[in-house]
Amino acid sequence: MESVTVEAQIDALLAQMTLAEKVGQMCQVPISHPELDERIRRGEVGSVIYSGTPLPGTGPQPPASAARLNYLQRIAVEESRMRIPVLFGRDVLHGYKTVAPIPLGMATSWSPDVVRSVCRVAAREASADGIRWTFAPMLDIARDPRWGRIAEGFGEDPFLCSALADAAIRGFQGDELSDPDSVLACPKHYAAYGAAEGGRDYNAVEVTTATLRNVYLPPFHAAIRAGAGSIMSAFPEIGGVPITANRALLTDILKEEWGFDGFVISDWAAVDELRYHGVAADRAGAALLAAQAGVDMDMASDVYADELAGLVEAGRLPEAVIDAAVRRVLRAKFRLGLFDRPYTDEQRSAIHLHPDHLRIVRDAAARSLVLLKNDGILPLAKAGLTIGIFGPLANARRTLFGAWTLDGDEASVVSIADRIRAAVDRSVTIRTAELVDDALTRARHCDVVIAVVGEGVSRSGEDHCVTTLDLPPGQQAFLDALHALQVPTVVVVLAGRPLALEPVHRSAAAILMAWHPGTEGAQAIVDVLFGDTVPSGKLPVTFPRTVGQVPLYYNHKPTGRPLPPGDRRHSRYTDHLDSPLYPFGYGLSYTHFEYSNLHIIREDGPAVTVRAEVTNTGPRAGEEIAQLYVRDLVASISRPVKELKGFARLALAPGETQTVSFRLTRDDLSFYNAEGKRVFEPGEFAVWIGPDSSRGLAGTFVIDPDGA
Ligand code: BGC
Repeated sequence: MESVTVEAQIDALLAQMTLAEKVGQMCQVPISHPELDERIRRGEVGSVIYSGTPLPGTGPQPPASAARLNYLQRIAVEESRMRIPVLFGRDVLHGYKTVAPIPLGMATSWSPDVVRSVCRVAAREASADGIRWTFAPMLDIARDPRWGRIAEGFGEDPFLCSALADAAIRGFQGDELSDPDSVLACPKHYAAYGAAEGGRDYNAVEVTTATLRNVYLPPFHAAIRAGAGSIMSAFPEIGGVPITANRALLTDILKEEWGFDGFVISDWAAVDELRYHGVAADRAGAALLAAQAGVDMDMASDVYADELAGLVEAGRLPEAVIDAAVRRVLRAKFRLGLFDRPYTDEQRSAIHLHPDHLRIVRDAAARSLVLLKNDGILPLAKAGLTIGIFGPLANARRTLFGAWTLDGDEASVVSIADRIRAAVDRSVTIRTAELVDDALTRARHCDVVIAVVGEGVSRSGEDHCVTTLDLPPGQQAFLDALHALQVPTVVVVLAGRPLALEPVHRSAAAILMAWHPGTEGAQAIVDVLFGDTVPSGKLPVTFPRTVGQVPLYYNHKPTGRPLPPGDRRHSRYTDHLDSPLYPFGYGLSYTHFEYSNLHIIREDGPAVTVRAEVTNTGPRAGEEIAQLYVRDLVASISRPVKELKGFARLALAPGETQTVSFRLTRDDLSFYNAEGKRVFEPGEFAVWIGPDSSRGLAGTFVIDPDGA
């Protein structure tokens, strides 16, 4: 009933709007535009993006403020002819003032609850400054860590990414989008952006229909099912058709097949960039292609503003296309309650950095840490040791935020070195050094060294791609020198991507992967180093041994020449091992988990339940993320050697056993075939339950053609 009313109200508005006012709703203008006030007054602005430059994630941005946005909103609602409120958007990816780990770190928790809570916090804090639309979550499956934007997403797996996509949408949009502390989500970048050739940002994408459907689209579909109210089209081209002009993706699949009734926004200036792709001769041609493809709003290029009305007047574009796009934009504004409540209560910003928010991001950070190696040195004692804290990131603060943090304030972060100082007993001697040679001299007198190494923010995120996954220059040499001194070293790695840590693995006593962990990240790291938290994170992405193996991902296809030991003909490299250094799903704990008693229970029809027991055989309570993988052994197209189809987090006391149980239905076992049709093909399936993608209890089951 409510939606009928909304549609009727949209009809009434459309009936009164001039063509120019309609086009205005399809335009997003940067906050820095010199004539912003006047354009809003004239009804030429549907949305304002609160960032002054493209790539806002790579540099400081002017802070948003409710007062400024209320001022602009007042012009729209009280001075423009149609009185349609403006929708204010900003990139709020993994927190606002309170910053959570980068999304790749959040994915390491394998916890929809963590993602939902973090996105709720971000929504509460951003909306308090008048931001009611975030350009998040980023749902691009990334199989190539050279691509800097791998930091912004949830990793390489469609199943895990889909589960977290659902959680992110629910977190941002809340129970009701019309609640003043909810924000409209904008999953991005639809679609297959992560497949950019060579891991180079904005580069062309070549994927088959089946790979697009089976790997890159599922997280977006999950986001749409969860009710995402907008979506952003991606920069690249697929098979010669830039996505900004890709009707098959934006209209046929998204709007028609999936029934998406929100609106599509282009990426920054991407409508104009159709000229550089070489598919439009001029700006009018670019506007025509994008509008016909299904881009409802133009981010920042002003091509729609300049060209759409002329195209309609010249009879080149039906006005119905404009009406349909405006309807979608207005629908979102109604759903957000902007017509009823266009202004933001300026007192609400008091909730920024609220203790509850800090607690939530600290929990997220704790679960984002992955113990990659431990020869037994961790956890460290808090008393009686001499500890060296060295490495270029030991005192880092802003780096802890990671890429795409526009609003985190460095003053709210404490460095890892300072958190360690505060955590240990007075009997501990801490040694630090600014210079590498001083560090090496002092390291000789330490019982243990904590070396904090990795990537700064300027090496990660948009437009920050790399050709090597080695530690940045000088860091490996420093670790090698420590190793030569035979000082036990715990290496803490901060980074926005998997790095090739094989040399570190050979020499370090322990390695903790900490990504860029956010406002409370340093405390979470210290809690793990000294044993107050038992690590439980599992990798959402494969760690290669060397960049030359890339792309390397667990759910790859079989070849005709697989890898039997001793067979010289298999698919492999001559100069390096084929296997990853750390596989997808991997992560250690301070306790041990054993898997036993796999049971496969056939149900009537095409469904099975797969169970196993997991026992904590170690000395401490801990949490284990048990994983279910499946392989369709014979199918009409080759299927991946393993695919994640379930996961569960178990909290186990020492000696405790729990049963983990997964149900696989016909839908779970279906896939998109070469023609892009979803099919279920009966036959034999292999199944594993285990601690990561490389190990587990194995079994098989058969589903007959009649489903029995
Ligand atoms: C990025 C998007 C971002 C947009 C607005 C673009 O350069 O690709 O992810 O949302 O800028 O800041």
